[in-house]
Amino acid sequence: MLKIGSVTLQSPLVLAPLAGITDLPLRTVNRSFGCELAFTSMISARSLAWSNHKTETMLQTESGDRPLGVQLLGADADMLSRAVDKLADYPLDILDLNAACPVAKVVRKGEGASLMKEPEKLRDLLKVLVERSAVPVTVKIRAGWDNSTRNARDVALHAQDAGISAVFIHGRTRSQEYRGKVNYEAIREVKQALSIPVIGSGDAFSPRLIKKMFDETGCDGVVIARGALGNPWLFPETHAFLADHKRPDRPAPEKIVAVMSRHLELCCTFYGDGLGTKLFRKFFSWYSKGFANIKPLRIQAFAAATHEEMLHVINKMPGLGMEPGAPVYSSHEAWLTEY
Ligand SMILES: Cc1cc2nc3c(=O)[nH]c(=O)nc-3n(C[C@H](O)[C@H](O)[C@H](O)COP(=O)(O)O)c2cc1C
Repeated sequence: MLKIGSVTLQSPLVLAPLAGITDLPLRTVNRSFGCELAFTSMISARSLAWSNHKTETMLQTESGDRPLGVQLLGADADMLSRAVDKLADYPLDILDLNAACPVAKVVRKGEGASLMKEPEKLRDLLKVLVERSAVPVTVKIRAGWDNSTRNARDVALHAQDAGISAVFIHGRTRSQEYRGKVNYEAIREVKQALSIPVIGSGDAFSPRLIKKMFDETGCDGVVIARGALGNPWLFPETHAFLADHKRPDRPAPEKIVAVMSRHLELCCTFYGDGLGTKLFRKFFSWYSKGFANIKPLRIQAFAAATHEEMLHVINKMPGLGMEPGAPVYSSHEAWLTEY
């Protein structure tokens, strides 16, 4: 069980905020596989304060889409306050502040991972959110800015002082972005220093690597990010693995195809036929990892312009079979040496 302020979760696994990816269709697919807490895509406080149409689509939800976390990006107290006031009209359960995004145009504005360099400022921004928000406030941090400033423990202690309910920590520095292996030590140090829950992130690609995160850091929960792309099975298989150490079997091609068809349908209903199909293309690549001779079908999928055309490509997949020795989890190569 994982408790984040007033929110009690049965599962310690959380679907990450992934910019441009964790929309309502993706959350719906993962929730049908046992994902409990899920995040929307990161939302700029400025865009929300000014009621941008794209932002409103990102916040679209439905009754089954709970518990739901919303992550704000911003470094201006006034803008963040206005964003929180706007969020009062939306159903949400957790409000997170992003102090982890490494993207140059974000950190240049003093937002995202740049806040790792200003622990006092981060604390003050979080205080504003805690005072204003009706739901528990959390923060997402990194191991540090770069190799010479691994200050996650100090930043997390400042954040805790603001009265927040949990810390999410990606165990890589800003300079690492998403490269290299996660640093479990940085997460363990934060866990040992704090009295609020600490949820670890990084290399959550397989049940075994997720268990490793729990074992090596003592964290209270784990964020599933790139590991969930094309692999919603990671949720039930990790729940099973944590309970009895069973090694999962790869889902049969027919099962993968059925989930892809459902995901495509959700995308087309949510965004409309053309845009939904276009946005599904990247998911086609992720779901189809491990299929034999998939390249020609990927080319066809990237040319598909309608729901019907994409479905036609998806339905050819079971005929391909799987590559011999295809990994159980193929979202990322790094875990292969670990499994
Ligand atoms: C494409 C992409 C988009 C991401 N967007 C966000 C985001 O909006 N907010 C956030 O806190 N983290 C974001 N992350 C970071 C992930 O939540 C996670 O912390 C990171 O990928 C490490 O986990 P992993 O190694 O298991 O993928 C993003 C990562 C990727 C790859």
